[in-house]
Amino acid sequence: MPDTLTKLAYQAFQEGKNYFGLGHKAIATQLRLWLRPNIKFELKSITPEFLADIDRRRQALIETDWQDAEAGIYDKSLLFDNPWQDFFQYYPAIWLDLPAIWDRAEDKQTAAFDPEIDTTLYPSYYRRNFHNQTNGYLSDLSANLYDTQVELLFGGVTDAMRRRILKPLKAALSASTTPTSSSDTQSLQRVQPKLLDVACGTARTLRMVRQVLPDASLFGIDLSPAYLRKANQLLSETPGTLPQLVQGQAEDMPYRDDFFDALVCVFLFHELPGPVRQQVIDEAYRVTKPGGTFIICDSIQRIDTPELEPIMINFPELFHEPFYRDYTYDNLSDRLTQAGFTEIDTEIHLFSKYWVARKPGA
Ligand SMILES: C[S@@+](CC[C@H](N)C(=O)[O-])C[C@H]1O[C@@H](n2cnc3c(N)ncnc32)[C@H](O)[C@@H]1O
Repeated sequence: MPDTLTKLAYQAFQEGKNYFGLGHKAIATQLRLWLRPNIKFELKSITPEFLADIDRRRQALIETDWQDAEAGIYDKSLLFDNPWQDFFQYYPAIWLDLPAIWDRAEDKQTAAFDPEIDTTLYPSYYRRNFHNQTNGYLSDLSANLYDTQVELLFGGVTDAMRRRILKPLKAALSASTTPTSSSDTQSLQRVQPKLLDVACGTARTLRMVRQVLPDASLFGIDLSPAYLRKANQLLSETPGTLPQLVQGQAEDMPYRDDFFDALVCVFLFHELPGPVRQQVIDEAYRVTKPGGTFIICDSIQRIDTPELEPIMINFPELFHEPFYRDYTYDNLSDRLTQAGFTEIDTEIHLFSKYWVARKPGA
């Protein structure tokens, strides 16, 4: 297909997902207002000008995504990669789950779990119905619905936001893993970089990193056994070496010091209390090799996009996110510096902010 056609197809694909997401949210909201009028949210009103601004930012993200594919950072096929099987299999379950979500919203329950789930195994900040999900992160149903739910929330650009880590990641790895000479005894190790996805969830990020960096040794860690099961299932569907997935806490990781060439962490920090954010960054520093890179992708923050405040007020109100407000004021660059990271760069794309930080040395 000529490139202009591929670009048009990609733009049309994104428009389709955006309108589907808008339609889904509008119908779900209308149903709630009819069926559960007692549920009240304190929401900041959204003006047409604000929506137009969001749409401009969304188009800019899609253009950047296209440009990075054109530049060969990743293959254009990645632009069309979508969790279709989950969508067709589990989309009805998203509607069927709504009454349970409304029940909890009406009763103001934010930490409700089925009795067979042993929540005592997890830290208290984690034992919650994040995003109002039934059983939080601790059931197979939650893991099966997650990717589709996030896509509906973000209007189909979740992977486009995740992909923004790939350019700095490739740049960092090519700088730190080029072998110095063929006789270098460590050259094999050095051209096979080790990369960890912290809080990998269902492994959407690992899946794309595996395609972009086929020679890398990939690792993933997450607290949820159900999400790791789902990650294993999704990663097994495509060819390539399976990443090593481990259940564990990001603030106490089972890896030795200076082990990884790069760490990435997507959409975790806004779900952690402030002190735990620092612990995770300190732990990321410990396991990163000198000269290695840590890349964070997470929500935008009030400290640099105050004009998008209505979203940052409405998101935690509608979707249970107990640490989000505090996160939006938290200067992660200061926290990275406190841990020892240097050369910290930040970027913003639509609803996401990125930090690229280097561990000095090497
Ligand atoms: C919003 S999801 C993001 C998942 C994935 N990175 C993505 O891009 O979709 C947050 C993930 O963080 C995991 N998580 C939360 N707290 C954690 C912790 N302290 N240690 C490890 N994983 C954690 C959850 O189980 C969940 O999979």
